[in-house]
Amino acid sequence: MILVTGGCGFIGSNFILDWLALHDEPVVNVDVLTYAANPKTLASLDGDSRYTFERADICDRAAIDAILAKYQPRAVVHFAAESHVDRSIHGPMAFMQTNVIGTGTLLEASRNYWKALTGEQATKFRFLHVSTDEVFGSLGPGDGKFTETSQYQPNSPYSASKAGSDHLARAYFHTYGMPVLVTNCSNNYGPRQFPEKLIPLMIVNAHAGKPLPVYGDGQQIRDWLYVGDHCSAIRRVLEAGRPGELYLIGGDAEKPNLDVVKTICRLMGQYVPGRDYEQQITYVADRPGHDRRYAIDFSKLERELGWRPTESFATGLEKTVRWYLDNAAWVADVQSGEYKQWVEKNYVARG
Ligand code: NAD
Ligand code: DAU
Repeated sequence: MILVTGGCGFIGSNFILDWLALHDEPVVNVDVLTYAANPKTLASLDGDSRYTFERADICDRAAIDAILAKYQPRAVVHFAAESHVDRSIHGPMAFMQTNVIGTGTLLEASRNYWKALTGEQATKFRFLHVSTDEVFGSLGPGDGKFTETSQYQPNSPYSASKAGSDHLARAYFHTYGMPVLVTNCSNNYGPRQFPEKLIPLMIVNAHAGKPLPVYGDGQQIRDWLYVGDHCSAIRRVLEAGRPGELYLIGGDAEKPNLDVVKTICRLMGQYVPGRDYEQQITYVADRPGHDRRYAIDFSKLERELGWRPTESFATGLEKTVRWYLDNAAWVADVQSGEYKQWVEKNYVARG
């Protein structure tokens, strides 16, 4: 079986659902259930003998040791993290704790587990660390794209903490020979993303008749990757990636934020006609230290492992908008409780 951390979050839950749709290999999902988790996302797996949930913190060494000993996974796929840049500006310590200490604890527990394996079990074991393109900092309009040899230049507490976790993952390969793989991907979007991130936030606010808050001039560029394509890339790297290597994953879809928001408004006009959604766009104070542009050159992954994204931004965004409109109960569920306090904290002060 494989062990997935953070499987009740956005990408982890999509990864588990896709994995079990394609394989019968069991999955144990280790998640502490922060505000970003929604266990109901995986309700379709209730009673499925291939799926087990363990509520645990990756910073808790004893709990992780016990889970590894109990399930004896052949691989660890590590998604668990604090993942939202704006939250890292308001409260950086949680990012240092989970992303650095938590990843370090998971690596150390996994090393201890892997060291005791023998024969094929030891040589085939993999630890796949899921990371982000934000560790490489910000590109200018005339710069090329990030590659596996780009310099680490993180600019936010989030990206700095992810950079720290990448360095630890790399060090475990170089120092201990542990079969570690690192993937760095661009902005994901798709079903089941918590509506604090740009695309789901704009869809749910547009639908609810609320403001669509664009930071600064809205000309910051992100390279949008459909979550299903990200999951297929991770499966491929797990299957055939070379330990010790970094693989960049991108969607080949660079877009300025304002274009993304206007496209969502257009789709909303098609699916729920009767309103001019663009009227809801509101320019608000910019994010401090806001990175201007991210873009990914994924040619290494294409050349070595034959992967490229299958979804265009147009088709991926249509599917995503439809999913949010068709899953109002899921949206209402995640918008209860803590979400309201976050919206208050992040947006009221922006004016
Ligand atoms: P998310 O915030 O939606 O989910 C994170 C999950 O991790 C949640 O279920 C949460 O409960 C769990 N978690 C947090 N702290 C934990 C801890 N201490 N112990 C156990 N579980 C814990 O995140 P996401 O968007 O699904 O991102 C998954 C991974 O992919 C992260 O490592 C993130 O840095 C990386 N990433 C995300 C994107 C993106 O666009 N979302 C892009 C590049 C990389
Ligand atoms: O690049 C990969 C990263 O993408 C991941 O590592 C992070 O986990 C993920 O959260 C994402 O980071 P971003 O900061 O790029 O994503 P976010 O959705 O928060 O913002 C996308 C862009 O939209 C960014 O330029 C800020 C802008 N934005 C965001 C919000 C929430 C707005 O203009 N208004 C908003 O309300």
